[in-house]
Amino acid sequence: MTKIIAIANFKGGVGKTTSVLNIGAAMARAGKRTLLIDLDPQANLTNSLDVTVKDSDTTIYKILRKIDKPRALQVADCLFIIPSSLELNKAELELSSEFKREEILAKLLKPHQTAYDYVLLDCPPSLGLLTINAFVAADYILVPIEAEYLALKGYAILNEAISAVGLDIDRVFITKYDSRKILNRDVKESIESALQDKLFKTLIRDNIALAEAPAQGLDIFRYSPKSYGAEDYEALCREILTVW
Ligand SMILES: Nc1ncnc2c1ncn2[C@@H]1O[C@H](COP(=O)(O)OP(=O)(O)O)[C@@H](O)[C@H]1O
Ligand SMILES: [Mg+2]
Repeated sequence: MTKIIAIANFKGGVGKTTSVLNIGAAMARAGKRTLLIDLDPQANLTNSLDVTVKDSDTTIYKILRKIDKPRALQVADCLFIIPSSLELNKAELELSSEFKREEILAKLLKPHQTAYDYVLLDCPPSLGLLTINAFVAADYILVPIEAEYLALKGYAILNEAISAVGLDIDRVFITKYDSRKILNRDVKESIESALQDKLFKTLIRDNIALAEAPAQGLDIFRYSPKSYGAEDYEALCREILTVW
């Protein structure tokens, strides 16, 4: 059965997009047919895969507005993307008056999702209608956090907002971890004791190759297969595949 995973955090820059890209690439390498959906108007995920969106291409905006039927572009073996574009900025407002506006994405995906083993949703850094649509469509909500000052406070706010719509954060993982930073080490310990089993064991270390790969339009496995980044996302993917 298809599993839909929303990767969300209201904070920007925590590694949502990097994680969608590289968890997705790891899943595809494991032979899982994986669809990535870029729900952020900034289209970082789309750009990271070097997908240029032409006027005639199907985007998540056109799908949500029912201008086009859901259709994905293939970017590698087993790996597909529904790209974003700047006009997705208009969607929040335009969709706000629709009937059951929180369920638009879930309904549109339903007949198409069976073609995939996993669908990963890259959320924008806010609790707008697009993020709510992602939560409603998702089977699981996965949250990347940095082991930084106020990380747990940010997590509590996110948790409260997600609970308010009747949902739960399923799992969390730590990103951009640098063991040389005392703060990172201390906060990691508080995160571990606060979240316990909700926290995936894999730490995504701070690794420059992860930041460089998107400029080449590549995932970490194609850009630098021997990097820490490749090692960590491979391990995280394995953990995910054992629970979901
Ligand atoms: N583990 C990491 N190590 C080093 N840089 C990272 C790592 N994860 C993400 N980055 C970089 O941090 C920035 C923000 O990451 P991004 O995935 O775009 O975050 P978000 O989608 O949450 O805004 C990007 O420049 C990205 O390349
Ligand atoms: Mg992003």
